[in-house]
Amino acid sequence: MSNQEAYEKMYRRSIDDREAFWDEQAQLIHWHKPYDRVLDYDDPPFAKWFPGGLTNICYNAVDRHVAERGDQTAIIWVSTEVDKREHMSYRELYRQVNEMASLLLELGIGQGDRVLIYLPMMPEAIVAMLACVRIGAIHSVVFGGFAALALASRIDDASPKLVITADGGMRGGKIAPYKPLLSEGLAAVTVEKPAVLVLNRGLDTPPCPIEGEIDFASAIARHAGKEVPPVWVDSTHPSYILYTSGTTGRPKGVQRDTGGHMVAMRQSMKHIYGVEPGEVMFAGSDIGWVVGHSYIVYAPLLTGATTILYEGLPIRPDPGIWWSLVAEYGVNCLFTSPTAIRLLKKTGAEWITRHDLSSLRTMFLAGEPLDKETHRWVTEALRIPVVDNYWQTETGWPILTNFAGLGLMELKFGSPTKPSFGYDTVLLDETGAELGANTKGSLMVRPPLPPGCMSTIWGDDARFVKTYFSSAKEMLYATFDYAIFDDDGYYFIMGRNDDVINVAGHRLGTREVEEALCTHPAVAEAAAVGIQDQLKGQEIVAFVVLMTNAVPPTPEELKNVVARQIGGIAKPKFLHIVPGLPKTRSGKVIRRAILAIAEGRDPGDLPTIEDAKMLDVIRNAVK
Ligand code: PRX
Repeated sequence: MSNQEAYEKMYRRSIDDREAFWDEQAQLIHWHKPYDRVLDYDDPPFAKWFPGGLTNICYNAVDRHVAERGDQTAIIWVSTEVDKREHMSYRELYRQVNEMASLLLELGIGQGDRVLIYLPMMPEAIVAMLACVRIGAIHSVVFGGFAALALASRIDDASPKLVITADGGMRGGKIAPYKPLLSEGLAAVTVEKPAVLVLNRGLDTPPCPIEGEIDFASAIARHAGKEVPPVWVDSTHPSYILYTSGTTGRPKGVQRDTGGHMVAMRQSMKHIYGVEPGEVMFAGSDIGWVVGHSYIVYAPLLTGATTILYEGLPIRPDPGIWWSLVAEYGVNCLFTSPTAIRLLKKTGAEWITRHDLSSLRTMFLAGEPLDKETHRWVTEALRIPVVDNYWQTETGWPILTNFAGLGLMELKFGSPTKPSFGYDTVLLDETGAELGANTKGSLMVRPPLPPGCMSTIWGDDARFVKTYFSSAKEMLYATFDYAIFDDDGYYFIMGRNDDVINVAGHRLGTREVEEALCTHPAVAEAAAVGIQDQLKGQEIVAFVVLMTNAVPPTPEELKNVVARQIGGIAKPKFLHIVPGLPKTRSGKVIRRAILAIAEGRDPGDLPTIEDAKMLDVIRNAVK
């Protein structure tokens, strides 16, 4: 059977004989008590996977491996920021996770309580995540690049009992203090204030005491050698919340379950990434993003593999750093973003080829469109298959991909290949009719969504249904991406169809940026769009209308408002102060027209525009 036939057969089975397929995959993990059913889909679109089954993620990711591979390295931490490297075995990870779990219990954290983790890329972040799921607590990791406003809105939404943070992080050799941002965020929250646990890394940060803060080093010392039994939770118990951006300014808390999540992670390593227990995976991402959750932390550890946690930039101290790690640690599977590769492309292939990369079998890229040229360039430089995989925070693992573990099918440059197991993909045109080959449409998934996908939006089932399942006549999950497939059934992703911007693989909502700008007293209104960028995929351009009689701030001052509130990643590249914005007669800003002009295109016919002169206002600004 060819690889193509093997895939087709398994894929068909994952759709046509869904329960039998996932029942088989579920054998890859340990169940304390078997599940009653594979799938409960009595209340669409809510899919409950493996209900009645009792299990624990930490047990599966740590305890289970201690007997068989206790001395094997679980985590290799490499920090080019603080110039440190550490190897942590599964046995050592077990010890640290138990001590941390014991500390969490002492702090009054119990099953179902939320813990917000705001930490840089240090091993303690993984330990904290695992300690939470060990005791049935729900973690919410917030990306270290996010600032006060982003933190406050997440704290308000998740109402955590505890925030775990550090004195600071480092980026490109510069210290980024965390506590002032958290302190400012806490001042703005409306819910009960959480306790704060601080890991002092000894960075040279300005003193910023937070009321009642607990010092991690002295607190954890009391728990030396303590063991905490894993709490057996139902498969449907939430394991974590991860916030992501959408059309509105308010981030959505993507809620993931326990059992389905583990089954999805484990089988994705086997079939997609082709990583076996004992092998080495390196995902060059951040634990604050979904790629980090899935492929730095959960999938490798659930597999009994070794994961590399890298704190630093991919081009510092030099552009060869990642490839030297591949050579030194015998990395078998590398995962990163197209932007990281485009950055390396600028510096030349010799940074890659001078290293012995014989251990590396496959590289995976995800998070943003992978252009054909970059795909071809990196494939030629590496001389191994480079797999584009397409997915979302919401799904937690690939919707479209090729399958290194099964045996790769033909790769086409610029295509994330075909639907992954359990994803019944459909393309719709504007009228809601289903499309065939070679026509661009909106990519949808016919529910139930497979295991591992979000179970709901934290605290808001109605918003989950309305956001994702209400745009078509039939109940279908909307990805909010345009796509097309060719005569061979190969998909190509054509970008978002909502107001989400993707800067270097970092997902941001235009509304978030606009709302941050509007907090400045001189700003009356704002519009943000994502223009195409050769390196980062997209860059943010903002247009701001000032209050009459306001003292005009400089564009830089306004850009910094965004950086301070949301974080540096959301800081607009360009900001123009304009007398007005193009709007429809009903008062809606026409972002589509602004974007077209900002990219130097013709905005086309705009029959509903209130005042066409506003188009010239934008034209003059971007000139
Ligand atoms: O627009 C798609 C784009 O990133 C979005 C999801 O971003 P996020 O929630 O941060 O999850 C990233 C997980 C890898 C998608 O809706 N995107 C992601 N992967 C690809 C992609 N666009 C094109 N090709 C991809 N491979």
